Amino acid sequence: MDALGTLLRTHNCNELGSDHLEQKVVLMGWVLRRRDHGGVIFIDLRDRWGITQIVFNPEINPEVHNKAHQLRSEWVLAVKGRVERRPGDMANPKLNTGEIEVLVDELRILNTSETPPFPLDEEVEISDNLRLQYRYLDLRRPEMAEKLIMRHKATQAVRTYLSENNFLEVETPVLTRSTPEGARDYLVPSRVNAGRFYALPQSPQLFKQILMMSGMDRYFQVVRCFRDEDLRADRQPEFTQIDMELSFVNEEEIISISEGMIKNVFKATRDIELTPPFKRMTYDEAMDRFGTDRPDTRFGLELTDLTETLRGCGFKVFNSIIEKGGVVKAINAKGCGSFSRKDLDNLTEYAGRFGARGMAWIKIKEDEWQSPITKFFNDDELAAMGRALDAQPGDLILFGADSLNIVQQVLAELRLELGRRLELIDKNTFDFIWITEFPLLEYDHDQKRHTAVHHPFTAPNEDQLELLKTDPGQVKSRAYDLVLNGNEIGGGSIRVHQKAMQEQVFQALGIDKTEGEDKFGFLLRALELGAPPHGGIAFGVDRLLMILTGSDSIRDVIAFPKTQKATCPLTEAPAQVARKQLTELSLRPDWKEN
Ligand code: AMO
Ligand code: AMP
Repeated sequence: MDALGTLLRTHNCNELGSDHLEQKVVLMGWVLRRRDHGGVIFIDLRDRWGITQIVFNPEINPEVHNKAHQLRSEWVLAVKGRVERRPGDMANPKLNTGEIEVLVDELRILNTSETPPFPLDEEVEISDNLRLQYRYLDLRRPEMAEKLIMRHKATQAVRTYLSENNFLEVETPVLTRSTPEGARDYLVPSRVNAGRFYALPQSPQLFKQILMMSGMDRYFQVVRCFRDEDLRADRQPEFTQIDMELSFVNEEEIISISEGMIKNVFKATRDIELTPPFKRMTYDEAMDRFGTDRPDTRFGLELTDLTETLRGCGFKVFNSIIEKGGVVKAINAKGCGSFSRKDLDNLTEYAGRFGARGMAWIKIKEDEWQSPITKFFNDDELAAMGRALDAQPGDLILFGADSLNIVQQVLAELRLELGRRLELIDKNTFDFIWITEFPLLEYDHDQKRHTAVHHPFTAPNEDQLELLKTDPGQVKSRAYDLVLNGNEIGGGSIRVHQKAMQEQVFQALGIDKTEGEDKFGFLLRALELGAPPHGGIAFGVDRLLMILTGSDSIRDVIAFPKTQKATCPLTEAPAQVARKQLTELSLRPDWKEN
């Protein structure tokens, strides 16, 4: 193996072109591909920036050529040579450096590599686990490096924009108390305070509010948050937020600052010019039309409520659901009247995964409505349904009947599935929409009490304060979420900034005075000591980047993500610890050691 010695890199592997012809250059990087063309050896040398073809010619330098014979994939090289124009038709217009090659006359092998466990230069399916176990190899692949580069550009644009708008970047603790964002906490036992635990922050929510009470006025942080929850493609146990909080503002100012920030991020990463203001929709309208508070508004297939149209109808299944307070809604899948029995069974099975007990359907034909259930309806009912759904020959109507929650969930998922199957979703559109006027609270049937839809520090709608005592479930909040292509990429609110109001909200949440004091005493005290009106928002960096890079999972835009089971195959975390460490932490495990 050779040492670098005094060799200094002059260019990266994406820089050289016809401007550099005849120059002596030094490149360093990895062997991506090696081709032996009747004596002449060609190597694609790769670094973070790109690829340059380097050439070993036996007629020009037999010694170096001989040494090049041993080179293999992923060996690490330093080469010195002359930039030459590629002969005749050998130029590669796909590469930035495609016009030239470097004729090598000095080769240093900085390191060798065993055969990698998966090829880095081909589009092959590699298991996620293997990719994460050898994440450093995975990240050498240009498409992965590209994602991290874009992520850097995004956070850089955020920092510049927010700094220019008078925000201060302030760090907040990672070892802290539980912050209620609705997930389980990751706990860290304290050695010096036996029996006590820190919680890793689910978000810096309370600290950023306290910073407003400290007079910082405008705060932001690109910050790691920790939530022990069931993982999905768009959820990680640790993820990053662009977190911000502002004093003396209303919803409009926060929304407008956020739109400016997102606009800058899109410009800096993808050179896309967004044109805020973004669309807005109330929570109620979103639930009504799309069955979800994060609607993908890139396509139609909206939900139609048929509950009143079908009240008292002849179809017993629907009628008894309506009588019990349930609802019937339907989607008109335009032009899907030719779906086969198998397609329909398939969709029914899909709907079942989200809680549907069935999926009645009607195919609208020229001369009849084809379905096992049409016989249960009279002509007036059929005509009224047809009008409500704008049913035309060739259409397919899909029904959901159940409690409102289940119908919304099922039809929202069916709608997305239809959108995908019918290829109605334009991948190159970025469709932003603010969802506003969320309910403040929702009823949790398991806990038999109200819980916060966002978090307990969200301000209620000022016109509905009386309702907070009498019918808390009806109160709207001053919260807003930003949805992009059906993903919730950010959420925030105007906060409660007066102690009496905070206590009133705690009360509605079933948090009594003692519990309120115990968990949030420090906040209540700060609210008594000159807390300014304030509000803020947090954006999910990983989700935003997933969409910007066109990735299927947020794992792809995180350098070292965790698996579905919250493990890290690279480091094998979480790991066992010595019994002594546990004793020091005053923990007495009752699991068996293996
Ligand atoms: P919220 O809980 O809505 O709000 O989180 C803000 C944004 O963070 C992203 N996000 C996640 N991304 C990846 N993995 C996860 N497990 C995950 N959970 C959330 C989402 C979400 O919109 N303190 C409040 C903000 C505020 O009120 O200012 C908060 O954390 O994109
Ligand atoms: P049944 O009379 O139970 O065989 O149902 C007749 C049709 O209604 C079938 O196509 C079922 O899939 C459908 N169906 C049953 N329950 C529901 C429901 N809760 N929502 C929508 N369709 C249903």
